[in-house]
Amino acid sequence: SILNFMDFTLTEEQQMVQQAAKDFAQNELLPGIIERDDAQAFPKEQVKKMAELGFMGMMVDSKYGGSGLDTLSYVLVMEELSKIDASSSVIVSVNNSLVCWGLETFGTEAQKEKYLSRLATGEIIGAFCLSEPEAGSDATSQKTTAIDKGDHYLINGTKNWITNGNSAEVYLVIAQTDVEKGHKGINALIVEKGTDGFEIGPKENKMGIRSSDTHSLLFNDVKVPKENRIGEDGFGFKFAMKTLAGGRIGIAAQALGIAAGAYELALKYSKERKAFGTEICNHQAIAFKLADMHTKIQAARHLVYQAAWDKDNGKDYTLSGAMAKLYAAETAMEVATEAVQIHGGNGFVKDYHVERLMRDAKITQIYEGTSEIQKIVISRSILKN
Ligand code: CAA
Ligand code: FAD
Repeated sequence: SILNFMDFTLTEEQQMVQQAAKDFAQNELLPGIIERDDAQAFPKEQVKKMAELGFMGMMVDSKYGGSGLDTLSYVLVMEELSKIDASSSVIVSVNNSLVCWGLETFGTEAQKEKYLSRLATGEIIGAFCLSEPEAGSDATSQKTTAIDKGDHYLINGTKNWITNGNSAEVYLVIAQTDVEKGHKGINALIVEKGTDGFEIGPKENKMGIRSSDTHSLLFNDVKVPKENRIGEDGFGFKFAMKTLAGGRIGIAAQALGIAAGAYELALKYSKERKAFGTEICNHQAIAFKLADMHTKIQAARHLVYQAAWDKDNGKDYTLSGAMAKLYAAETAMEVATEAVQIHGGNGFVKDYHVERLMRDAKITQIYEGTSEIQKIVISRSILKN
């Protein structure tokens, strides 16, 4: 795919979407962000406004209430939102990549009418439920069961660390129907909040992305009609993997945004703060940090845009998406840590925002496949060819 040279000149529409996200982040996400982070307060009003801007179903066809935009527009928005507020951007990413995309691509017409339209407009939000206490990276080791009872499935088990865990109305739940068949015996089911036996567990108290709500979910004889299965019997694991391949592009863009946001703050600070009679950017140790940060961000941006371009142009994006996610996440952690360093003592206090970006950066190396898992995906792909 190195041979697929791309032209990243943004169209007028892409520039408009990017600007809208930039303005929104500055005007609507920045105010109150420190308080929301402290209180772990879900950004309810902000999500409502993002829905009005069409950010909750960006790539969904307009006939289902979506914005009908391309993946590149989506990553531009993810990047701009994440420069300021990664808690809000993960809500956007899960709804777009992990919920709407899978429903639109693999759902039945009836499922799309019933669920996708409301999800794409942001009237309601969704959650994607794969991870379990004992099945995180090792995602095929599903312990949650969905037993076939003829006209319905009966779900039992526990899901862990589910983003939008309490605020979602619709949950895509991955569960094992036939243990004998291994990963080919897994199904993906649409479960509505409020279904008997479906309980939302306590909220996690997190290091970063604190105003997104992460919960465990408990299923105790939860009855789900057969028509809520996505795809053929046994398609659930493939569904999860295909969905995550695209989701990783969204999280890569989130990581890119965190890095870029931290860098912009550090650059500005370094030109204002004086030490030893000059602005600190005039000390080569600081200038070289800025050079490394800028270079890595630009490299990450190319990988992210390439992956989005691959998806938009019908190319395989499992490898490019994993590379983008790996590199952007490592860059986010490194750049945010350096941004704190450049801020000195001020970097360690909340008012300067870089400490939050550093805490938020960490999750990008963990969710939607840890950095180690991305290396498994990348190495398998290059060794296979
Ligand atoms: N597309 C289609 N199919 C795929 C695929 C892809 N990208 N990747 C794997 N598969 C298929 C394989 O082909 C295989 O099917 P066949 O046997 O029919 O060929 C099947 O899936 C199992 O694959 P593997 O044998 O490679 O399985 P594995 O046990 O070695 O695991 C793994 C592979 C890549 C490590 C996978 O388990 C994985 O991705 N783990 C990480 C899980 C993860 O990312 N979780 C994120 C949860 S969501 C989240 O985190 C959201 C959030 O924070 C906001
Ligand atoms: P483990 O799999 O136990 O990994 C522990 C360590 O071992 C990691 O460093 C890992 O990289 C390493 N490791 C494991 N296997 C290997 C290997 N084969 N080779 C090398 N190293 C290995 N999940 C969802 O389904 N939906 C969500 O919405 C969601 N949101 C999340 C939000 C947050 C804030 C968090 C923290 C998690 C979320 N997750 C979600 C779960 C997330 O995807 C998992 O935490 C992640 O996949 C890692 O799984 P684990 O925590 O079980 O770690």
